[in-house]
Amino acid sequence: MYSLGKRLAWLEGPGATCEKTNPVPPRAWHLVLLGPPGVGKGTQAEKIVAEFGACHLSTGDVFRHAARNLNGKAPSPAMAIALAAMKRGELVSDNTVVELVRERASCLACQYGFLLDGFPRTIDQAHALDDILRGVGSKLDAAVNFFAPEALIIERLSGRRVCKQCRTGYHVANKPSRVPGRCDACGGELIQRDDDKPEAIRTRLQAYAATCNPVLEYYRKKGLLREIEASGDPDAVFAQTRSAIQKLA
Ligand code: AP5
Repeated sequence: MYSLGKRLAWLEGPGATCEKTNPVPPRAWHLVLLGPPGVGKGTQAEKIVAEFGACHLSTGDVFRHAARNLNGKAPSPAMAIALAAMKRGELVSDNTVVELVRERASCLACQYGFLLDGFPRTIDQAHALDDILRGVGSKLDAAVNFFAPEALIIERLSGRRVCKQCRTGYHVANKPSRVPGRCDACGGELIQRDDDKPEAIRTRLQAYAATCNPVLEYYRKKGLLREIEASGDPDAVFAQTRSAIQKLA
């Protein structure tokens, strides 16, 4: 059983060093997690990390980490534009996201392996990822695509709550905290992400629909795509995910 760890090099960029709290896993998995917002990529990522030891590298987490750590300072112009797009539920520009991942290329060559969550989202990002991986002598084992009906996705996003302090995730119906509005882990206040409000959810789903097919087709043609039906509860979905990963061995 591996822990999530702090992933400092990923969250803060190349100047930071990760705290290596986990033993090095027997195999470094190199996986991309695909699927619409709210389908449960982050939830499955936690379970994959616990079982297979790869680092969970979410591009959304990098932006949220940057927003939380401004400490009263103004963000850089590129980050300000990215955070405003994110709040509206729009995609951040390919250039900004690719640059952010390129700066962190050493994370993609790490001996723990990686689970890229939220990248690539467009075909240009998929090509850029290949280029970045080539540069560090790494390659993908699979692109795991989670899918579920849109009504279920909207229900999952609308009910999601996160702890303002430690970022633990909850759902008002599927994964409620013991004390309503308070985090089980640290007692912090549970809040709704700005992009989980109805208008932003609509925009995010539209952005996904407009960009997903070429990416799925790209990985299908390479023989890397694995499809997971994600309507069941998290453990049922993970049983499929685990089996898909084990079959790659
Ligand atoms: P990002 O952070 O990547 O968000 P997302 O892809 O929209 O995905 P989410 O984190 O919202 O959902 P998830 O699939 O991880 O679901 P979760 O497990 O939390 O991106 C945010 C923004 O950053 C983007 O909109 C964009 O602006 C920007 N960005 C990031 N990367 C970018 C890129 N590459 N290019 C351009 N822009 C980029 O689950 C959701 C809820 O459902 C939770 O409450 C959970 O408890 C519940 N749940 C999950 N699974 C189940 C289950 N099986 N049964 C019941 N409930 C479940």
